[in-house]
Amino acid sequence: MAPPSGLGNGQQGKGVRGLAKQNIDWANLGFSYLQTDCHVRHVWRDGKWDDGELVTEPFFNVHIAATALHYGQSIFEGLKAFRCKDGEVRLFRADANARRMANSARRMCMAEVPEELFLNAVKRVVAANIDYVPPYGTGGSLYVRPLLFGSGAQIGVNPADEYVFMVFVLPVGAYYKGGLKPVRAVVLDDYDRSAPLGVGHVKVAGNYAASLEPHRIAHDKGFAVELYLDAREHSYIEEFGTSNFIGISQDGGYVTAASSSILPSVTNASLQTIAADMGMDVAVRPIPFAEVPSFAEIGACGTAVVITPVNEIVRDGESIKIGPTDGCGPVLQKLYTRMTAIQYGEAPDPFGWTVPV
Ligand SMILES: Cc1ncc(COP(=O)(O)O)c(C=O)c1O
Repeated sequence: MAPPSGLGNGQQGKGVRGLAKQNIDWANLGFSYLQTDCHVRHVWRDGKWDDGELVTEPFFNVHIAATALHYGQSIFEGLKAFRCKDGEVRLFRADANARRMANSARRMCMAEVPEELFLNAVKRVVAANIDYVPPYGTGGSLYVRPLLFGSGAQIGVNPADEYVFMVFVLPVGAYYKGGLKPVRAVVLDDYDRSAPLGVGHVKVAGNYAASLEPHRIAHDKGFAVELYLDAREHSYIEEFGTSNFIGISQDGGYVTAASSSILPSVTNASLQTIAADMGMDVAVRPIPFAEVPSFAEIGACGTAVVITPVNEIVRDGESIKIGPTDGCGPVLQKLYTRMTAIQYGEAPDPFGWTVPV
């Protein structure tokens, strides 16, 4: 394929080129950075966004006093494009990510990316890297990473006067090869993810920096994920490190946490709609940690994996077992199957979630 048109930044033909598409082992892709042909880059200056450009070079010259570096004006998103059964490439709910990013930008006093600009940038970069969208049937997808940061120089604690919005993409593989596999979770009572009136509800880079230490501790103890409780009392369930909490009650109801300090997951919102459509009761309410043993199934949900079944939660050395030991419970499996069927165009999309690129 010829390089995409409109490549800017004087970088055409220089630096590292995209990985050779023809050599990608689609069946064995993981979830790690891979370089593609280009990313899209827009700059906000003098109160307005420019038209953006496609840039091949995966590097960026940043001012030493950029607010992103000092004061954490840095937010991001994560979504996917899928090669569907009919061969078309479609984005899943990119409009929801655009709105969440605008919300994050407002909270961080950053220039907002208008929804239309966000969607156009995402479509543009996916189209320019279309050959990197894994073939239908491999279980892979194109992960789309939009990010917005303060690039303007500022030495007092104040918002930047210049922002950069970039979107890059990379092919990722099926997380589960051979069925959904349950994982163990741990509650680390020495850590909170976010304060009740803090920034847990927005996708701010600093939230993830703060999560690295507890995640490493959980990992070193042999747990795949950590489950956070509310910061005020440590009595109520908030969410897992990078995914929302879903409990399936004994009578088959969908229960998820109501809290102002968790990230509103697009996957969770979608699964709630699917659950209601399948006739399940959906409850968004405070969930006392004491309720954990009563659930028939527990899952962690997010864009990367859709649903990860959680079959054990350990707190203070005490283990609570939930659901089947070796596979996914039937209700979460049903939700996962319906969701991925919509994403890959194998089932109708009555909710209008998928948009062709
Ligand atoms: C803290 C947190 N919660 C939940 C999610 C899941 O959100 P989504 O379904 O929009 O990927 C993510 C991932 O973005 C996350 O980082």
